Amino acid sequence: MLEMVEDKTNMKKIEILTEFKDPTMTTIKTDKKRLTQVILNLVSNALKFTMRDGNIKICISDIKDQHNNVTHVKVTVADTGIGIKNEDKPKLF
Ligand SMILES: Nc1ncnc2c1ncn2[C@@H]1O[C@H](COP(=O)(O)OP(=O)(O)OP(=O)(O)O)[C@@H](O)[C@H]1O
Ligand SMILES: [Mg+2]
Repeated sequence: MLEMVEDKTNMKKIEILTEFKDPTMTTIKTDKKRLTQVILNLVSNALKFTMRDGNIKICISDIKDQHNNVTHVKVTVADTGIGIKNEDKPKLF
């Protein structure tokens, strides 16, 4: 998926780091198209607001729900850019 933003990443000399924490699962059942869309959106925002030579960190981790014995996947995208303004935060989903 990251090859889709490769050009932009190279242009701005931004490094994308991926970290897998506690990789107890290797496959997930999901709507691939939508999940890709969400992550790509976050990554492209991160790219847009990160200056040259910055970095973007994508972190994948497990969250186990003790109640019904299911495991969720948590995906976070962090960047070294300006951050999101407080007044824009309510607009996030
Ligand atoms: N990683 C980020 N760093 C700083 N500000 C952000 C970041 N992501 C989102 N924002 C703020 O939230 C706003 C809304 O983001 P959104 O992706 O909906 O729109 P956009 O990036 O401006 O436009 P588009 O995605 O259609 O090109 C952005 O304009 C920006 O002000
Ligand atoms: Mg955007």
